[in-house]
Amino acid sequence: MLNGILKAAAAVAAAAGIGYAIKGNRIDPAAAAARTVNAAKVTTKSQTAYDNGVALTPPMGWSSWNTFRNKINEELILEIANAMAKSGLADAGYQYVNLDDCWQSSQRDENDRFIADYEAFPRGIKPLVEDINKLGLKVGIYSSNGTHTCEDLPASLGYEAIDAATFAEWGIEYFKYDFCHSKPIPTSAPYIEKLIISTNDGTEIASFNAKDATLEGHARLASDSKHPEEYIVGLSSNIGSATFSGINVEEDGNYVITLIIRKKGLFYKYARVEVNGDTEYDLYAAPTKASTSDGRLQLTIRLNKGENSVKFYNPFASRMDAAACQYIRMGRELRKATKEYAEKNGTEEKPICYSICEWGFNRPWNWGKEAGNLWRTTLDITATWPSIISIYEQNVRLARHAGPGGWNDPDMLEVGNGELSMDENIAHFSVWCMMAAPLILGNDIRRFIDENGNAKTDDPILQILTNKDLIAIDQDKLGVQCRRHKTNLKVDVLVKPLENNELAICFFNKFGEEACESVSISELLATDYCDLPVADKYVCTDLWSKEEFIAIDTIGATIAPHSVKVYRIKVKEG
Ligand code: GLA
Repeated sequence: MLNGILKAAAAVAAAAGIGYAIKGNRIDPAAAAARTVNAAKVTTKSQTAYDNGVALTPPMGWSSWNTFRNKINEELILEIANAMAKSGLADAGYQYVNLDDCWQSSQRDENDRFIADYEAFPRGIKPLVEDINKLGLKVGIYSSNGTHTCEDLPASLGYEAIDAATFAEWGIEYFKYDFCHSKPIPTSAPYIEKLIISTNDGTEIASFNAKDATLEGHARLASDSKHPEEYIVGLSSNIGSATFSGINVEEDGNYVITLIIRKKGLFYKYARVEVNGDTEYDLYAAPTKASTSDGRLQLTIRLNKGENSVKFYNPFASRMDAAACQYIRMGRELRKATKEYAEKNGTEEKPICYSICEWGFNRPWNWGKEAGNLWRTTLDITATWPSIISIYEQNVRLARHAGPGGWNDPDMLEVGNGELSMDENIAHFSVWCMMAAPLILGNDIRRFIDENGNAKTDDPILQILTNKDLIAIDQDKLGVQCRRHKTNLKVDVLVKPLENNELAICFFNKFGEEACESVSISELLATDYCDLPVADKYVCTDLWSKEEFIAIDTIGATIAPHSVKVYRIKVKEG
């Protein structure tokens, strides 16, 4: 009866009321969900910091989104890379040229791999990467943790392994993973009535009823008038588990499990299937529209010769846990893909800086460090003062979560965009540097070079973006995001400890009138974010005007509207 099950998995699933279908290479939610089922093997046991060796200081680069949106093509990207190399931006530390949304075609190839837009990137991405690498720069790419991107193009949910391998092969070194069209892993679990183990030629090996399982937590047996056979409930939201033991097979290999479930409810369900306490698989059940009360879910698992056990549970107590799991999974695929590509080709591994972009919806600062290298903390920035202030207010509170290898990301820079005044541009850049934010430029940097390819060093926006003293604050190896030491609601005083017992102080005037503020070093010394040694005198350098002065204790400033004063402070020797 089970003959041919693997070959006809999608058809069987549909017939069984599972409700998933694969439709050619057109990407639709059902197809993506089906692939998630088929590519089911996962391992999420021990979770540690992502630790892929990159982003030890906040990443620096450029992204196509803020200025060019859906209008990107190969010529533009090469011009941008050229401008980055020749304008002085690359020398200042900017290294990633990132393609945001809209680089991809709306179809995948016959092997389900991404294809670049045929018109905009006719050579594909790999040759473009090679050209940009020759300029000493790296390339980033974009997808979404959903069925489609925010511009409704194909995305990576269910294609994580294929897409990670494709990016590794193309030589990509930065990957932004968005949250549009996401499909959270359900926190509900299916109701299990029976478990059947077969070989994949359909020979039944063992069969268990609900009452044969060892139930833990809140798992229990239930039945109802429409369905007198007992089934297991209470496996949802990480509150219970059901384990079937004593599954004997004669040799190591792949076997099919058929789970007979009690169909109920217009919502997706999910079970983690843990085999012998280590290998884990995903199993999804669709919302039921069926008129019959039982359905079947099938999954190929690997069993060992002798006795085996299979445990069913749903580890996700909340949508937050489920989102974290999906982002962690993509990160693992990226790491695996770059390693495997390097091993196979005898080349040096190119790790991918992994940028999580779920807008702070699932508190990524709590799990981002084990998932990737940076995580967006807010919705999208725009080139307006209120947007910059709003994002700053959300991000500044998250200081304790940032550090080398894992950064809060208050979104890409809008310096040079919109109607921002020079003071606002300077303040935006300064505050991002104080917050140890990734410095991903969002303006048209082609304006920074002339027809002969020479840097226009007198361009005021270029001067802001290449202020090496501010970049040094952002890139300081201690990797500490500034603390908001105090605020009078108009002026915030930000303090960022630096290497070698130095300190950056920023007076940030958020309001539309000139203001005065001061801070005393003795007050700062009493905090846990100031490593300045006790001394008689301190040298303070204004990082925009470059003026130096000596402070005994109090440092004061008059700050223009929507403006900053930033000082680097160290002990005066001698
Ligand atoms: C979301 C992200 C943006 C950008 C767009 C692309 O809005 O937050 O940064 O990547 O998608 O569509």
